[in-house]
Amino acid sequence: MTDNAYLEDNYAPVADETTAHDLPVKGEIPAELNGRLMRIGPNPVSEPGPNHHWFVGNGLVHGLWLRDGKAEHYRSRFVRDDRVCEVKGWPATPGPRFSEIGGGAANTNVISHAGKTFAIVEAGGNPVELTDELDTVAFSDFDGTLPGPFSAHPKRDPDTGELHVVGYYVGLDELQYNVVGTDGRVRKTIEIPVAGKTMVHDCSLTENYFIVFDMPVLFDAALLEQDYPLPYRWFDDYGTRVGLLPRDGEAADISWHEVDPCFLFHPLNSYEDSDGRVVLDVVRHPKMFATDMTGPNDGIPTLDRWLIDPEGGPVKESRLDERAQEFPRIDERLIGKPYRYGYCGHVGEGLLFGGLLKHDLQTGETLERNEGEHRQFQEPVFVPRHAGADEDDGWLLSYVHDKKRNAADVVILNAQDFQGEPAAVIELPGRVPFGFHGNWAPDA
Ligand SMILES: [Fe+2]
Repeated sequence: MTDNAYLEDNYAPVADETTAHDLPVKGEIPAELNGRLMRIGPNPVSEPGPNHHWFVGNGLVHGLWLRDGKAEHYRSRFVRDDRVCEVKGWPATPGPRFSEIGGGAANTNVISHAGKTFAIVEAGGNPVELTDELDTVAFSDFDGTLPGPFSAHPKRDPDTGELHVVGYYVGLDELQYNVVGTDGRVRKTIEIPVAGKTMVHDCSLTENYFIVFDMPVLFDAALLEQDYPLPYRWFDDYGTRVGLLPRDGEAADISWHEVDPCFLFHPLNSYEDSDGRVVLDVVRHPKMFATDMTGPNDGIPTLDRWLIDPEGGPVKESRLDERAQEFPRIDERLIGKPYRYGYCGHVGEGLLFGGLLKHDLQTGETLERNEGEHRQFQEPVFVPRHAGADEDDGWLLSYVHDKKRNAADVVILNAQDFQGEPAAVIELPGRVPFGFHGNWAPDA
């Protein structure tokens, strides 16, 4: 036992990479699901220090390949940052580095874009290009076009396929907004001035705005001297504001809108209503890294709605759902557009992981899916049944930790039968440690 919850139970790292074929399946894998379900999280390869923070482990990326109704294979692979290569005795990973901080660890999200797969992270680490089979290729700066930090949460505009992203880095006084084209090259960069070295985990989009968050979790060098590996903490007096950057504007065109002090990692979605107001739905934490410096654990994260008039005036804040929740996802064909459904992890036993929630934002109804205390869902990923399917007509895919088996399943739910029997449950041979984010990458 350690005294750090983020090294216990299913937060504990696994020692090795895994490859397994022809996995056991209960139920029927929908024949239209042809592709891979990717997921990534922190998995430290060496003994963490006494103040270990969940966010800083080396990346371990997982993939489950589904084809023609079969679970063909599962692979987990280390993202080969400097520490991983040193500990494992593997050759150094080539490619450009924007920052040496963190040794290039990329552990927070895994995406496919422009025909490539990338493990991605915030705070200055470069994207790491992976093969389709999740082996590390190289650090990437998108062919020399990425001028600074990236992020774990680029938002893909469903109309253009472009990625919109905001990055931060302790060596920069500004945030950096980048747009990555469908060719995988950055086509636009804007520096966004902010008052402090703020942690910005995610961003949001509407038809006319890119949305940036300026929040009171700031870099504090004193934490480094005290051996805290994540040197960011809550500051009472900094405030919290939302910036609306017109999509075709410059930094000077941003309007800033104050909200009650809080922190958010993840918006659910945002859009403009018929009056031109921005509707922004977020998972709101009342504070962050104020009392617990090992992980996100400073009050109950709720689903809130912020109504913002771009012309100014107070932001109207309301609570949509007071249950503790995180890892919000939607049908991503509706990023930036009016939408009805949201899917979230329901915070339960074991810090962040329990069942799932499905929000109907039109009726205000929320459904819970709970398979018992021994079944802990990671972030759900929505996959439409086909390209033209309605919102919510499709599948929710989630890696689930089964405490009894001490191993992971992948559960495939019919999103429209959220509380019913799963379409399929695929048993993986080992644990998938609690991690952050993943995505479905359909076959080309
Ligand atoms: Fe995230």
